[in-house]
Amino acid sequence: MSGPLLEAVGVSIQFGGLKALSDFNLAIHKGDLQGLIGPNGAGKTTAFNVLTGVYQPTQGEVRVSGQRVNGRLPHQINHLGLARTFQNIRLFRALTALDNVKVACRGQAALNEEGLGAGAKFRGAMRNYRDWWRALMLTPGFQAEERELTRQAEHLLEVMGLAHRRDEEARNLPYGEQRRLEIARALGTRPKVLLLDEPAAGMNTREKADLMVLIRKLRDEFDLGILVIEHDMKLVMGICEQITVLDHGETIARGAPAEVRSDRKVIEAYLGDSYLESHGGAA
Ligand SMILES: Nc1ncnc2c1ncn2[C@@H]1O[C@H](COP(=O)(O)OP(=O)(O)O)[C@@H](O)[C@H]1O
Ligand SMILES: [Mg+2]
Repeated sequence: MSGPLLEAVGVSIQFGGLKALSDFNLAIHKGDLQGLIGPNGAGKTTAFNVLTGVYQPTQGEVRVSGQRVNGRLPHQINHLGLARTFQNIRLFRALTALDNVKVACRGQAALNEEGLGAGAKFRGAMRNYRDWWRALMLTPGFQAEERELTRQAEHLLEVMGLAHRRDEEARNLPYGEQRRLEIARALGTRPKVLLLDEPAAGMNTREKADLMVLIRKLRDEFDLGILVIEHDMKLVMGICEQITVLDHGETIARGAPAEVRSDRKVIEAYLGDSYLESHGGAA
């Protein structure tokens, strides 16, 4: 299928009197690596929340693989192939790195079996009951499935440069590695589109640069569409082919990095921001 994997059409959301996102449009195709940038409070995370079903748009439509998903729950949208990471890291802190990823892979395996239609709840309950027995008896089927999940999770840890942390509790990992573990978890749900909310936040300069290269590798290896939120314009400009710029919920520019960088509205939105400070005051 050649249509967009993820699409926002005229999406707006309002919180009380505040229009956090106005007439937002977006199309992510397989293999796209796009950036979503803008000053603090521009509406970037809100856009992710609307795309992933955390918030319902006040207006407009969100589509995943051509299907309208307004009104669907986040886990249902995830099952359609959309995964994300959070600006504030969300991990099972007391589980090992491996188990964090296995939980994500397992959720996907269970969903593949159950589907989302009527009766899914009943089948889910039956599955739990069956799994409980299989686990208790350590049946060959259970063991084989478990080995497969472990293998998948190990591969994802490897890809994210975390193989050496396999048996470490998530809470003991350095910050940058926790962020990479979050990405491994998101990949565990086998997405077609991956949304990364400030994946480099809190990392040092070196880690940030490495992460950007890794993100591009993920796109290639997993054949994903990727949308990255990043506060630092320079970082995304290095890897993204198309960039959307938000300011006060409005899309003020969209285009290739070079176009966006020299856009007057973008420069104004970022005035006084660290980007301009570190770039001599002009783009
Ligand atoms: N649940 C909410 N209720 C009320 N206001 C919100 C909510 N979520 C976000 N906002 C507001 O929407 C605006 C955009 O926020 P956000 O999307 O987090 O910005 P960004 O991620 O670009 O920094 C901010 O003014 C924020 O305070
Ligand atoms: Mg944000």
